This record gives sequence, C-alpha cells and structure tokens, in this order.
Amino acid sequence: MEQRIVSGDSQEGDNTLDTSLRPRSLAEYVGQDLIKSTLQIGITAARQRGEPLDHLLLYGPPGLGKTTLANIMATEMGVQIKTTSGPAIERPGDMVAILTQLHQDDILFVDEIHRLSRVVEEVLYPALEDFFVSWVIDKGLKARSMNLSIKPFTLIGATTRYGMLSAPLRNRFGSVHRLEFYDSAAMRTIVERSVRIMDIQAEPAGIKAIAKRARGTPRVANRLLRRVRDYAQVVADNVITEDVADAALAQLEVDDLGLDSIDRKVMLTIIEKFGGGPVGLDTIAASISEESETIEDVYEPYLLQLGFLDKTPRGRVATRNAYEHLGIEFEGDKNDTLQPTLF
Ligand SMILES: Nc1ncnc2c1ncn2[C@@H]1O[C@H](COP(=O)(O)OP(=O)(O)OP(=O)(O)O)[C@@H](O)[C@H]1O
Ligand SMILES: [Mg+2]
Repeated sequence: MEQRIVSGDSQEGDNTLDTSLRPRSLAEYVGQDLIKSTLQIGITAARQRGEPLDHLLLYGPPGLGKTTLANIMATEMGVQIKTTSGPAIERPGDMVAILTQLHQDDILFVDEIHRLSRVVEEVLYPALEDFFVSWVIDKGLKARSMNLSIKPFTLIGATTRYGMLSAPLRNRFGSVHRLEFYDSAAMRTIVERSVRIMDIQAEPAGIKAIAKRARGTPRVANRLLRRVRDYAQVVADNVITEDVADAALAQLEVDDLGLDSIDRKVMLTIIEKFGGGPVGLDTIAASISEESETIEDVYEPYLLQLGFLDKTPRGRVATRNAYEHLGIEFEGDKNDTLQPTLF
C-alpha cells in the first residue's frame, strides 16, 4: 500500500520526530482531560499507598497517544517501563522470562495486546491477579507444574481493537480508557507545541489550517506540519502562513476535512458502486484492493467520527453529510427510513 500522509499509523520517518515531540509528563500531554484526571488520581493514590498502579488498558485508533501515555505513567510513578508487543511474545516461556525479570512496581507495556496468543495470555492471568507464574516442567508422567512468585507490577495494554481482546484478559484490567479523537482546540495546541519545539515560524492562521486537517490525531498533525515546513522552506520564505499551509496541503491532496484520495475512494465506492449502501466491509475492501482490517482500523474511525459513515447490521451506509462533502446529490432518505427497522 502506498503511504498515506493522513494515516494515524506510524510510518517510516515518524520515529525521530515522534520521540522529540512526545510529551514526557501528564501536564505536557494535551487534551484527553477526563482520562488525565482519572490517571492523576490513580497515580497519587498508588504513590500514597506505596503500591503499583492498577492494570490499565488503553484503546483507540492509531496515533492518538497510547504509547505516549504508557511512558508518562512510568515517569510519573518513578518506575521502569518494559515495552513489548503482542506479536513479539511467541511462547509462554517468553512471557515467563519477562515477568520474572520485572522489578517491584515496574510497568510492563504490551502494545497490540489483542495479538497475544491464548497460551501466552494464560501465563498472564495468575501474574495479574496474584503475582505468580506457573509453568510445566518435565514431560509425560513426570510432568508437574511449578509456581514462582513475581514482584507486584502494573500491566498497561494498548490496542486499536478492543473487541478482539478475550473476555478473561479484559476483565483483569482495573481501569479501561478509550482515547478519543482530539477536538479542534486541543489539535491547535498540539501543533503550536510542535511548532515551538521544532523552532518553526508559523502564523496562527497557518497553525489552524494544519490542525483542522489532522483528523483529530496528533501523529497526523506532526506529520502534516513537517511536510508544510518543507514546502514553506522551499517556496515561501520559511514562514507558514494560512496560504502556505493551504497550498502545501492541496499539493498533498488533503482536503479541508483532512480526507485524502483513499478516504474519498472508500466513500465514492459505497456511493457510486453500491448505491450508498448498506454494503459489507469485505465487499468494500475487495473493490478498492485493501484489507478489511486496514479499512476498519485506519480509515473508518475518522469517517465514522465525521458522521460520513454509519455502521448497520447489514453493512456500511454513506450518510447525507458524505454526499454533501463529495458534492454528490443525496437521493432521498432511503437509508434514513431503513434505520428504524434495523434496530
Ligand atoms: N496528548 C498529546 N499531546 C501532544 N502530542 C501527542 C499527544 N499524544 C500523542 N502525541 C504525539 O503523537 C505521536 C504519536 O503518539 P503515540 O505513538 O503515543 O500514539 P499511539 O496511540 O501509541 O499510536 P499506535 O496505535 O500507532 O501505537 C507522539 O509521538 C506524540 O508526538
Ligand atoms: Mg503506540
């Protein structure tokens, strides 16, 4: 797949920038106010009691700040963080090794936690509840299981796919937070902050133009900013004005809501090929040669957020807003009248 400038997914080239722009403390972390205040209370309470934090699950679309938040929790607690991911832990023994090496109150951060295999998950269950691991030694008649206690620790899991987590794992998290797309004020603050750190010259209207098109996603904002900075440097005296931002983003084919050509292709496919829907995700995916999972994780959340797409039991439906944005005449209210009978 070609790399999309507006995708929340992490891409090559993001990394160095991500690291320098990544907030280090809760105070620096912009937006997500409700989550921040809940976490702050959890941190203070745990510190007062001298206990590790409750196990914490963070979920939501890519690029909203899950990894950032996990690292901040470690800094605020003054503990070490060990980072791994679901697919990286292949065998139960790998998980045992990680768990037994943790220090008191450490954080274990497991990214893409929905991709842990069932056998690896089973090692986690007693570790999370009673801080011990058990595994089987020897084979055949001599096989017996051994228990080994581990230090109290905190698991922080991150996922873009809450629904794919098994129920037993889900139930073992003391708190679960869904990260939301950032509102326009927060997005502006994030771009302003990055402008400052990267030492860029930008006018408020230029900052606003970038923030508006960044799909409520900090990672996208930083990526757009970097591209607009290049443009400003080469053709516009190094200053990001509104006109410069508009011209740079137009060249990248990012429209005024932050949609790119692939978003438009998804919507046009539903509207033009399938009469506005309902049409199944797999059918859409096949028509634009994309994977269903990519559409669901990466493209769809923002289209749903904009109210361009509805999910119904019979498939995806394009809404009146989507027709209007794409400049296509909305044919009656056939989809509106379908809704009541579906639910
Ligand atoms: N609240 C925030 N304030 C300012 N910048 C942020 C915030 N959240 C994220 N960022 C910026 O966005 C970048 C991406 O965030 P992060 O890597 O934490 O996202 P993620 O949710 O873990 O994504 P993925 O699902 O792809 O793992 C960070 O490097 C940081 O620069
Ligand atoms: Mg991450």
